[in-house]
Amino acid sequence: MKEVKLEIKKLVDQINFHNHQYHGLDNPQISDETFDQLIRELLRLEHDYPELIQTDSPTQRVGSRPIDRFTQTEHLKPMLSLDNVFTIDELYSFEKRVKDKLDLSEDIEFIAEPKLDGVAVNLVYESGNLKYATTRGDGQTGEDVTHNVITIKSIPLKLNNYKPPTIIEIRGEIIITKKDFELMNKKNAEEDEKIFANPRNAAAGSIRQLDPSIAQGRPLKFFAHGFGFFSNEDDYSSYHDVMEMIKKSGVITTQESALVSGVIGCMTYYEMINSKRDSLEYEIDGVVYKVNNLSHQTNLGFISKAPRWAIAHKYSSLKVESRIIDIDFQVGRTGAITPVAKLEPTNISGVIVSNATLHNMDEIKRKDIHCGDYVFVRRAGDVIPEIVSVNLNKRSDQIKKIIFPKYCPSCGGNIIRKKGESASKCTDGYNCPDQIKEGLKHFVSRKAFDIEGLGVKIIDQLLEEKIIRNSADLFSLNKSELVCLDRMGEKSSQNLIESIENSKMIVFDRFIYAQGINDVGIATSKSLSNSYESLDDLINTDLDALLEIHDIGPIVAESILDYFKEKINIKILRRLLESGVVIEYIQPVASQTLKNKIFVLTGTLSSMTRSEAQSIIEVNGGKITSSVSKNTTYLVAGDNPGSKVTKASDIGVKIITEDEFAELINDR
Ligand code: IVH
Repeated sequence: MKEVKLEIKKLVDQINFHNHQYHGLDNPQISDETFDQLIRELLRLEHDYPELIQTDSPTQRVGSRPIDRFTQTEHLKPMLSLDNVFTIDELYSFEKRVKDKLDLSEDIEFIAEPKLDGVAVNLVYESGNLKYATTRGDGQTGEDVTHNVITIKSIPLKLNNYKPPTIIEIRGEIIITKKDFELMNKKNAEEDEKIFANPRNAAAGSIRQLDPSIAQGRPLKFFAHGFGFFSNEDDYSSYHDVMEMIKKSGVITTQESALVSGVIGCMTYYEMINSKRDSLEYEIDGVVYKVNNLSHQTNLGFISKAPRWAIAHKYSSLKVESRIIDIDFQVGRTGAITPVAKLEPTNISGVIVSNATLHNMDEIKRKDIHCGDYVFVRRAGDVIPEIVSVNLNKRSDQIKKIIFPKYCPSCGGNIIRKKGESASKCTDGYNCPDQIKEGLKHFVSRKAFDIEGLGVKIIDQLLEEKIIRNSADLFSLNKSELVCLDRMGEKSSQNLIESIENSKMIVFDRFIYAQGINDVGIATSKSLSNSYESLDDLINTDLDALLEIHDIGPIVAESILDYFKEKINIKILRRLLESGVVIEYIQPVASQTLKNKIFVLTGTLSSMTRSEAQSIIEVNGGKITSSVSKNTTYLVAGDNPGSKVTKASDIGVKIITEDEFAELINDR
């Protein structure tokens, strides 16, 4: 038995090594036949001795069964997004903000990398083993996509460090190379299968699937470009060094990464990558600069969802000429009326574009756009297409001035434009069909009630046939009302009734978000759900209480108060609850005793894990950061503390023992 165990271990190590050479480094060392022989031998032994199957065995990547639904998992550290700059001036402003905040005058050292155009994922390794993988989600919580991620052969199931961190979040991008993408589309065309618009869409479509056999059939690759929480943070002082550790552990990191200094260094790198952009194996839409020093990163922190220590420097994207054939005025959820240009369909880097937003009348005037004009259209990254400028050389006398409608194109109601706002809005709220429709689309969307199978076409019909009038009516729908709709059979109607039923249990923040209150996105909904114990508390709130909440300013507060002032909104909220919707109030903030207190942990805690300590701190209103700075309130020193203790005493940060920490939280 012991021998078999050893034999299995040897085979697993060998196969994993060759997988890495082949899929990760593009450097195969053995023939495909020899590789297959190793796999067959391993399968044979695992068949005979199933109790000896190792978790990191390559055979465990395949054959995992489809999952029923995605589960949500909280990231140990938020997965942030990036702000963009397009010009050198904007880059100088970014560097200035960094220097000002750090109070430094010398050039900043950045790590520069290509910005891959793919899908962000978070890999969590515990004691070196891949435990799970999640998408970015809303930045705090992502969807568990482990079943798909383990089919990607360049992602090791086990890190090969001698002493891997107890826990590490490795972050990066799942992409499809340009070459693989072409081959895949060519093959799909021959087999009458789906043709993808671009590699990013194909990668995203593969990861968000319940059935892993789809991802398994696609040529997905992973490149790490960062990390979240990791347990031995004390041992590292630079981003570069952590990335080197990750690389050594067998994970493929972004190629072409470099250390550069100041704006000049960044610009040189930007030009260098631009000159080889076409020959890179994957698509990129810019480069990213990140402050290399980790304690500088901590001091810089982040605003909203983007760190102050990193920026994406985008390449201006391809402009294509088209012609405006008509103008449409679309009414959104909040009543805002947006002019949209209908274009002669044009292909922009693989995507057929036939609409482009004109934003508002000011934009139309500023760019001097007329119906019938030839225009240059751009799609920057995943941003919706927009008109860059008019090609005046081709302007004819057939063009027509764009006139903003006097009344709402959907309901004929009045339109007003508030002082200081750029959008003109229909004021008819619950009487405006388009607002109701857009509101319902938002209500059922993934981050709100997440009602699967309730698409736009069904919503349209339900409203048109007057089967429903608002969101609360959804919960009293019955099967007989659905089967008579277009393209709805017995089965799909039954499924839809079930998904409506399943959505009735909803956490408070999603419930708030679903109502589509002006200016209240996911982050604000979360803050509100953390600050109010119940829906009634929220309904009865006032301006002062709202302004107390971090992240809520006077404009957002006014939108919230306006919303609850409307009787119809309150009526719908009540009806939702009467129809069986149950709000789950989870993790209320227990107290605010640790408000404004910033903690750093070092060493091993004996009475709790780091993540337990983290949630206790956060639940009591405190914050936890990874390195000591002058903003730190307490450094909690467990057993075998690291160099943070020296730093804390150097700069006068209070150091407390684990017992003192326990007293602090018990006193709350
Ligand atoms: S660093 C704190 N580096 O771009 C932000 N991101 O637009 C950490 N991305 O969500 C991101 N290539 O998924 C970083 N070399 C790179 C990247 C990169 C692509 C993605 C990433 C992020 C998105 C923001």
